[in-house]
Amino acid sequence: MSVTNKNQVTRRDFIKATLAGIGGLIGALAGIPSMAYLFSPATQAGAKEEALIQLGPLEKYPIGIPTRFDFTRTKVNGWERTAINYGLYIVRKNEREVRVFSDICTHLGCRVNWHPDVQHYISPCHDGHFDILGNNVSGPPPRPLDEFVTKIENGNLFVLLPPFKRPA
Ligand code: FES
Repeated sequence: MSVTNKNQVTRRDFIKATLAGIGGLIGALAGIPSMAYLFSPATQAGAKEEALIQLGPLEKYPIGIPTRFDFTRTKVNGWERTAINYGLYIVRKNEREVRVFSDICTHLGCRVNWHPDVQHYISPCHDGHFDILGNNVSGPPPRPLDEFVTKIENGNLFVLLPPFKRPA
């Protein structure tokens, strides 16, 4: 018969404690990637707004005729994903010069459409008119259509998001 001191750790207790410690450590190590995956969207700053968007070969856009180009971009902010639709008008002035305008009316944000019969972009909401270069010519819009910085590389047209505001 063996007599054990109450303060003495038995071999069984020592093994139990060691196994519990190792189990806890393995659990913690396995949990770190999962927690990082779950929380990383919340710790990231909002999606970067700036982006270069390819609009295809410049030569596919006719000279002097505003041509529409639409695309959708997904903005990620934490766990929130928002699809944003962009509408652009590409106005090619000659073989090398091009300007690209947003289709968002500068009054209250309706989408303008090109009307070749009057050579104006017209906002259907309050009859705002813009000329071919996006200058506000009549109606309530307070300033020209926003414009995109363009870049031509190897014959392909790119625009930089977001568009910039032009002065009134
Ligand atoms: S939103 Fe375009 S004129 Fe009002």
